[in-house]
Amino acid sequence: MDKDRLSQVFGGVWSELMRTPIHLDSLLARQTPRAKSVLAQVLPPILMRPVSIAEAVGVGIPEGQPWNLDRVALAGWPAARQIALELHGLLERGALPAVRAMAEDYPPTMREAILADWESSAERIFSELAKPAPLSLRISRKVDRQLFLDRWKQGGKIPVRMRPSELSPLGLVLESYTPILRTPEYERGEFEIQDEGSQVMSLFTLWPERFAPLLSEVPGAPAYGGVIGVPEGNPPAWKVVDACAGAGGKSLALADLMKGQGRLFSYDISAPKLQALRRRATRAGVNNIQAVQVAEGSELQSLAKFAKSADRVLVDAPCSGWGVLRRNPDIKWRQSAESLQRFPALQLRLLEAYSTLVAPGGMLVFGTCTFRKTETTEVVEKFLDKHGSHFSKGPGGFLGPGSSDGFFMQSFQRTS
Ligand SMILES: C[S@@+](CC[C@H](N)C(=O)[O-])C[C@H]1O[C@@H](n2cnc3c(N)ncnc32)[C@H](O)[C@@H]1O
Repeated sequence: MDKDRLSQVFGGVWSELMRTPIHLDSLLARQTPRAKSVLAQVLPPILMRPVSIAEAVGVGIPEGQPWNLDRVALAGWPAARQIALELHGLLERGALPAVRAMAEDYPPTMREAILADWESSAERIFSELAKPAPLSLRISRKVDRQLFLDRWKQGGKIPVRMRPSELSPLGLVLESYTPILRTPEYERGEFEIQDEGSQVMSLFTLWPERFAPLLSEVPGAPAYGGVIGVPEGNPPAWKVVDACAGAGGKSLALADLMKGQGRLFSYDISAPKLQALRRRATRAGVNNIQAVQVAEGSELQSLAKFAKSADRVLVDAPCSGWGVLRRNPDIKWRQSAESLQRFPALQLRLLEAYSTLVAPGGMLVFGTCTFRKTETTEVVEKFLDKHGSHFSKGPGGFLGPGSSDGFFMQSFQRTS
């Protein structure tokens, strides 16, 4: 692509990204295949590591930029276009030097919060969140993972390199980009795209003690160094609730792990997300999920008849998403301090509301894809302050970012 054309398409997408809430993937999907492939190469590095990439490609940017610019100024930030052109040239020639992210690649509020919360692992967090994320698959338990891998290698239909996950007993990791969704294996429901950490959260929801060794007291810790297997045999016929199910990433994993035994109730306030969940469940051949829309603020009333009836309840709450920045690098350009403030209170409210569904002896799991203390350990302490007479704290901790996206998960057992 020539410089003028790149400058034009990059400028258009960049400006829309900074001015509107439209997601990067949606903006890329509107481009021609050629423009999309070039933008997919240059945009993520600039979003992830603007300051270190500028330095590496020789574009000078004034001290404090881009984080001291408002949205309008960011939409027309001339350095972004210059970096894109230089970066594209270096990539074409295969001459881009290795670029290590630094604290300055993050907006000051995020940088300071990470340093204040996790000073000793902050450098690793900054570096991991700016690396490209691998594409991970969760292989259905209907299919043997090793056989799937062997068949794929022998078939050679698509030039793709895969390796077993080092974290999830259900996972395969793709070592290069592949249009994997256009395959008969996907149509037959043999796999889903799911980050390995998200797979672990599903496993942890059913068996917290067993999968607890994968978790750490701090985010960004090195991986555990071993894969823990799924318990042998058929799982008990549990009643499981996925309270914030979204489009069903974890619900589908839970249903698959339950092997059609028991029942899974997937709740969300978003009808389109639940519709996507139902579509995915049909394709995956899962028939023990009931997807139910709930109304924001009246969860307790609508679910009162199910009080104290569930063996497992997962509350994968809305959060700042800092743990998944490597997949959604645009988040850090758009999030305001004000927009972050609402999460801790919302998380505590949802945890309290859905905790009422847990049966005596059953487990409640609070999950987020962030590592901010106010959205993780502090929510846990507040919940225990109020409900410690009915719930005891079980295993929990952080996973990634690095070995997977960054997650936090904490279990509680209902004692009365
Ligand atoms: C982190 S996302 C969940 C992701 C999902 N568990 C997955 O694995 O793909 C949080 C979800 O909580 C939902 N949510 C927000 N408020 C809710 C409420 N009051 N009750 C249930 N779900 C809610 C959002 O619509 C969003 O889909």
